[in-house]
Amino acid sequence: MPAISRSAPGKLILCGEHAVVYGQPAIALPVMQICSKTMVSAKPLTSRGTVRIIAPKLGIDQDLSTLPATSPIKRSLELIMDHFHLDHLPACEIRVSSNIPIGSGLGSSASSSVSLVRAVAEFLGHRLSEPEINQLAYEMERIYHGTPSGIDNTVVTFAKPVYFVREKPIEFLDIPKSFELIIADTGIHASTAQAVAGVKEQYLKSPNKFGALFEKIGNLSIQTRQHLLAGQIAEMGPLLTQNHHYLKQMGVSCPQLDKLVSAALKSGAYGAKLSGGGLGGNMLALVDHSSAQTVEESLVNAGATSVIHSRVHSSAEITE
Ligand code: PMV
Repeated sequence: MPAISRSAPGKLILCGEHAVVYGQPAIALPVMQICSKTMVSAKPLTSRGTVRIIAPKLGIDQDLSTLPATSPIKRSLELIMDHFHLDHLPACEIRVSSNIPIGSGLGSSASSSVSLVRAVAEFLGHRLSEPEINQLAYEMERIYHGTPSGIDNTVVTFAKPVYFVREKPIEFLDIPKSFELIIADTGIHASTAQAVAGVKEQYLKSPNKFGALFEKIGNLSIQTRQHLLAGQIAEMGPLLTQNHHYLKQMGVSCPQLDKLVSAALKSGAYGAKLSGGGLGGNMLALVDHSSAQTVEESLVNAGATSVIHSRVHSSAEITE
């Protein structure tokens, strides 16, 4: 039996993170240059039910039975088994690999979850619909993050730009004009669960202040969506930068993120902000093609540990 291999992209939150947990809209984009991959190979000659898990980035190379009950990968596989009413998997090797940095706001956990669900389901002889994959990946995100909004698993599953509001139908965005982003890593690993918990704590202490910030961020997402759909790229810049300031007021930025944001703005970006949970991880700069190189260099000079130059394709470019 040939090995089954399935992949899923990384993602970026263009605007609206954190506020999205509280019902405000947010926009997320797939990042196709980075991805995770799960490969499942049958091992019929090993003893019944032996499942070897290999996930180099997590430092895992051991039998599933020896992983602790709290291991996210073990719990994710249990979710898949429950879904198919199985009490064990056939003997196999499951290898999860990824070039998405962990804890950096680029969707590493959602991407691994989606590739894991796809590959294991197909290995078991099932073809899940995209909404079913999305639902299972959401449940896995809950293992990783506690109370995720669901935006990460959604954008990664469908690999399309999304305008996302919790518990509302997903709106896929038809982008008329492609644009460019520079994504820069602070090199600081940060826990989304911790960032989300910190915001919740502050919100419970100051509900009026935080409620108002969430609403202001939601309004920025609404305006960004309008410009995006009208192909008004430069007009999105100040909205993204304003979003960063609100996130800073919420306490989820850090000096290195602020430094990268200001370096991007000084070197000609239309706008810049942290992206994802914050407290470290990545920021994004919206750039014109002519300033991309300069912004990229200034981000490296300001201490970015890695930089991705990403083109967000228009719908026409995707169907070409
Ligand atoms: O996984 P991250 O770090 O990109 O953050 C996801 C976005 C949050 O709004 C902070 C959390 C969520 O579940 O929506």
